[in-house]
Amino acid sequence: MVTKSDEYTFNLDDVRIPSKYPGKRYFKGEKRGQISGNPKGKNPEDVWEMTLERLVDDWDAQIWEIPNVKNNHPEKVAHPCQFPVELVERCVLALTNEGDIVYDPFAGVGSSLIAALKNNREAYGSELEQSYVDIGLERIEKLSEDALKTRPIYKKIWVPSPNDKVAQIPEEWRKVT
Ligand SMILES: C[S@@+](CC[C@H](N)C(=O)[O-])C[C@H]1O[C@@H](n2cnc3c(N)ncnc32)[C@H](O)[C@@H]1O
Repeated sequence: MVTKSDEYTFNLDDVRIPSKYPGKRYFKGEKRGQISGNPKGKNPEDVWEMTLERLVDDWDAQIWEIPNVKNNHPEKVAHPCQFPVELVERCVLALTNEGDIVYDPFAGVGSSLIAALKNNREAYGSELEQSYVDIGLERIEKLSEDALKTRPIYKKIWVPSPNDKVAQIPEEWRKVT
């Protein structure tokens, strides 16, 4: 996160991550026995700092788990490196307020602009490839008609259980050579 000055927007409550152990209490020190977390969830901290300091604790709860946009993703269009809208949406919510301007100089098919417009911000973009501009405008048009499919923000990632029908490690790979 880079800011132009010390005056910037950061709406922490809009991007808190639910605690893995919400009722956890301090087990030593002067706060012993008091609940250690914030009921609204925690600050999505810096990954590198977090992995060093909390390696043994709950580091995975602090990483934003957002699937990338591959073929079966509801947002997939013809762009080779499309962002998931949710990725930008979290930044828009945290770093801007309603009515603020969001500008993406490398707008591609408009994922950042969609994230901004969805959340009542103004959106501007520039993009080199006309075909991506066209797709972006189409997506924005659909958004305005409430017909654009986006993966809902904070939707949990599906993890198959052992009984689910998914590809398994082939038997020949299990053979010890
Ligand atoms: C990583 S992609 C962005 C994808 C976008 N976040 C999305 O979800 O669609 C970068 C985009 O920047 C565009 N681009 C590269 N150089 C540019 C330039 N000088 N001015 C405007 N767009 C540029 C590319 O055509 C490409 O679509």
